[in-house]
Amino acid sequence: MRVPNYGMIHFLLRRNWMCRIRLALTLLGLPCTVASSGRRSPIACSSFPPFTSSATARPITSSSCNLYLTSVLTMPTSAVPHSKSRCPQYPGLNIKRFPVPDNQVDWSQNWPEYKPVSHTDSAVAKKPAWADPEIGSFSPNFNTVDGSVDRTSFEGSYKVENGKPLNPRGRTGLTDRGLLGRWGPNHAADPVVTRWKVDAKGAKIQHPVTKRPILQFVSIKRKDCGQWAIPGGMVDAGEQVTLTLQREFSEEALNSLSLSPSERAKINERITTLFKSTGFQVYKGYVDDPRNTDNAWMETVVVNFHDDSGDSVSELPLHAGDDAGQVKWADVDSSSSLYASHSHFLELVAKERKSHW
Ligand code: BGC
Repeated sequence: MRVPNYGMIHFLLRRNWMCRIRLALTLLGLPCTVASSGRRSPIACSSFPPFTSSATARPITSSSCNLYLTSVLTMPTSAVPHSKSRCPQYPGLNIKRFPVPDNQVDWSQNWPEYKPVSHTDSAVAKKPAWADPEIGSFSPNFNTVDGSVDRTSFEGSYKVENGKPLNPRGRTGLTDRGLLGRWGPNHAADPVVTRWKVDAKGAKIQHPVTKRPILQFVSIKRKDCGQWAIPGGMVDAGEQVTLTLQREFSEEALNSLSLSPSERAKINERITTLFKSTGFQVYKGYVDDPRNTDNAWMETVVVNFHDDSGDSVSELPLHAGDDAGQVKWADVDSSSSLYASHSHFLELVAKERKSHW
């Protein structure tokens, strides 16, 4: 199990200068907020193969900056080659990847015959705010926080070849960015908001088979693929991950985008207590996402916010918004089929909370 250390604190701080200001203000006992706007890059759906965890996360409470100084559950080790990132058919398009067998995934394998397909989606090429321009027309500073864009990877330092970053998990059969906006890591954040399932008297309901209390989480039905998922999304440029977690939740599960500024402020006030008080980091790292390419890939931070007494978020009416078609409290149960690797994230939460799975 990895324990919080100064290296990790330094890493969390250097991810965003705004966090430093927030931390300084916190130490001085002053409140602070950071505004943001933006949108996500296009999404594709698929289920992920199971992967293993190597550590147990621990809850951390912080007054303002929400530093999740927890141990980290890791994605499948690099020993397990990514597979969705090599799915033969690139999502949403009639584009086929160059087939990459397991033994040729690693860049260290010399493979002169490797002729990956090059593709950048037209939505990305149009240069929306969430996407980078073409390499050549700008020179990104990889492996650093580059202006407002975090180009560091949870995987450590990644290689850059001919000006383009190389996927740290190896070949994917497709070069350039595909559907992803950023060269290199594309950062997402996934808030797992949970409560206990209770009966009419407020007593926890135990599962008849496992005899463990049942957790419920806020689940959204994605408009793009119709799959149920955690209401996560992309971290906007310059945005602190803690803010992304709260923003995505309020946009997708509370439909805050459709509210007036004063109503939105009220909702935010309600959920801020939960999002700023307790959370434990369930996972952070590479995601074996079908949109990944040789030069662009998904990474995410998953954080669990638990409404233990059921009087915080649990009391708010859920309304689907933004990329979500429907929203509901769903039981955390191993039989649910969820988008991407989200089911695995819930398994980790259930383990941590000693709930039914
Ligand atoms: C989704 C997240 C997901 C991530 C990696 C993002 O686009 O919003 O929920 O974890 O991609 O697949």
